[in-house]
Amino acid sequence: MSNKHEIIEKNIGLMIVLVVIAISFGGLVEIVPLMFQKDTTEPIEGLRPLTALELQGRDVYIREGCNVCHSQMIRSLHSETERYGYFSVAGEFVYDHPHVWGSKRTGPDLARVGGRYSDRWHRVHLNNPRDVVPESNMPSFWWLEERSIDSDTMKKKLSVLRRLGVPYTDEDIATVDESIKGKTEMDAVIAYLQQLGTLLSYKR
Ligand code: HEC
Repeated sequence: MSNKHEIIEKNIGLMIVLVVIAISFGGLVEIVPLMFQKDTTEPIEGLRPLTALELQGRDVYIREGCNVCHSQMIRSLHSETERYGYFSVAGEFVYDHPHVWGSKRTGPDLARVGGRYSDRWHRVHLNNPRDVVPESNMPSFWWLEERSIDSDTMKKKLSVLRRLGVPYTDEDIATVDESIKGKTEMDAVIAYLQQLGTLLSYKR
């Protein structure tokens, strides 16, 4: 009796092609529906685009690799929600390009850190973490205080994000200068941190 499966088992090229087809189909079935589901594509109520200052803070956050040590994704597990707060929902990230969920926690998750500390605390902490948390092994980021923000680049960033679907208005772009006037990258990172997780209305 001939065994047709044997043809696949003895032909590695054919096997690879069929495995790729099987996996791609599985991927399509799992991923494509998410792109059309309201609770993954619609922003949560009250979600607003980051201000120019916060947006710059986010870019510095990425540039300095904060997202390599800190996640921004609270899973729906008791141990996580007890420690960090309400779990993250997809609608919080609709305006993020790219997202900064991260995948490693050398430091704690920051998804709901907004409002947990004062601006002053963050300033001291970023300047030298050991001044407020003696056992901390987070690096110092003292140079952020010495760097200013370029207004032309900020305007371009807002328009590019608008093209990607973030609802910035002409007024947002026109008032970039006021938003970042006299501010340093340190101010920007702090403004970014202070709004994290503050928009989800049903969080604890
Ligand atoms: C090498 C890993 C590492 C990097 C990079 C890093 N951190 Fe941290 N971070 C930590 C650790 C560890 C802690 C916990 C100890 C402490 O509070 O200092 C922490 C704590 C924090 C906290 C306090 C969180 C809380 O809930 O108490 C904030 C806020 C923070 N980091 C922000 C940042 C920002 C912003 C950056 C980038 C400019 C950054 N971190 C980069 C490791 C890191």
